[in-house]
Amino acid sequence: MFDSLELLPPDAIIGLIAEYKNDGRDPKVDLGIGVYRDATGATPVLRSVKTAEKRLLETQDSKAYLGSAGSADFNAAMRDLAFANSTDKDRVAVIQTPGGSGSLRVAAGVILRTKRVPKIWVSTPTWANHRPLLGGAGLTLENYPYYDPKTRGLDFDAMVSALKSAPEGDIVLLHACCHNPTGVDPDRAQWQTIADVVVDRGLIPFVDMAYQGFAADLDDDAFIVRHLAERVPQMIVSSSCSKNFGLYRDRVGALMIMASDPKTRDVVQSQANNVVRTMYSMPPDHGAAVVAEILGDDELRQGWLQELTEMRNRLQDMRRLLHRAVSDAASGHDFDHLVRAKGMFSFLGLSPEQVRRVKADHAVYMINSSRINLAGITPANVEHVARAIAAVL
Ligand code: LMR
Repeated sequence: MFDSLELLPPDAIIGLIAEYKNDGRDPKVDLGIGVYRDATGATPVLRSVKTAEKRLLETQDSKAYLGSAGSADFNAAMRDLAFANSTDKDRVAVIQTPGGSGSLRVAAGVILRTKRVPKIWVSTPTWANHRPLLGGAGLTLENYPYYDPKTRGLDFDAMVSALKSAPEGDIVLLHACCHNPTGVDPDRAQWQTIADVVVDRGLIPFVDMAYQGFAADLDDDAFIVRHLAERVPQMIVSSSCSKNFGLYRDRVGALMIMASDPKTRDVVQSQANNVVRTMYSMPPDHGAAVVAEILGDDELRQGWLQELTEMRNRLQDMRRLLHRAVSDAASGHDFDHLVRAKGMFSFLGLSPEQVRRVKADHAVYMINSSRINLAGITPANVEHVARAIAAVL
């Protein structure tokens, strides 16, 4: 049976982890997968997470099943983090999921159970796994323009005009902040116009919020979620704790579906629970228990907010540092978009061949699209990276 299967190439993002690890050169720089790194290049466990874990070790008195929706405390905390007071809490179905990807997959499962399965509109470009994950689940995808390589900014008019052509009832996938892979976010006025189109066209917003707290702060980064929640009858939000709690491998996320009324919410919740039950039964507990502990305790929460601010500030500092170094090393080339963008990622604007050469000749790793993770930049490696980029331009 298995003889009929074909060997697949490594995943465009995950594949780089092993390739980088096996590279014996020094120096080498990993600007590939989206994980936060500190100034030494490490991805440490947050202090608040360590403290919460110690507490759980002492206090957790059972490992019995929690059910398909996971922890009620975690779910309530995630709902408040996303929606604050923008909607009635009893209209929001919440389910703890294995990471943001798990949330997207469960959302797809629920959408596929609806009577007239809508199409889902995704930005060009979008996170490299959005299409495989949502399309692989069985949804039909459409594209809307988003990034203009010429301006290295948002192609706002084209985006809006594409969304205006979307049929009523279709779903539009939006990145709440720190757009992956471009780092280009709409500003407030643009978000309001996008929301106008969503309302006028009767579209259903699906907001992927994988980086809450990485652009400005927890509230500002959730602006479009809360703004839409006040204006539309129904919406979907996928949230991840991978980045803002640094819980990547623990797989912590939440799916939140806002329904038009509490009765429909109950129906949606039952369907989401059943999607989970028939897919992986229940989510893993540990990471979500850590998040619930942190968000439920004033002191731990303050400590976590401090760490989140440190991570965000470092990303902004590294944007400025790389901008300066690469502008000097490759004079005549414009890298101003690096300091305009938000969060972990930006495109460098290199061709796949140039990306291959920075890796082959300089051991600088990035995704084929020339997406870089700014957290991989350190004061110690920035000159090497800038020289490598300049050499292939
Ligand atoms: C990324 O885009 O690098 C991260 O979201 C990690 C992943 O799973 O792709």
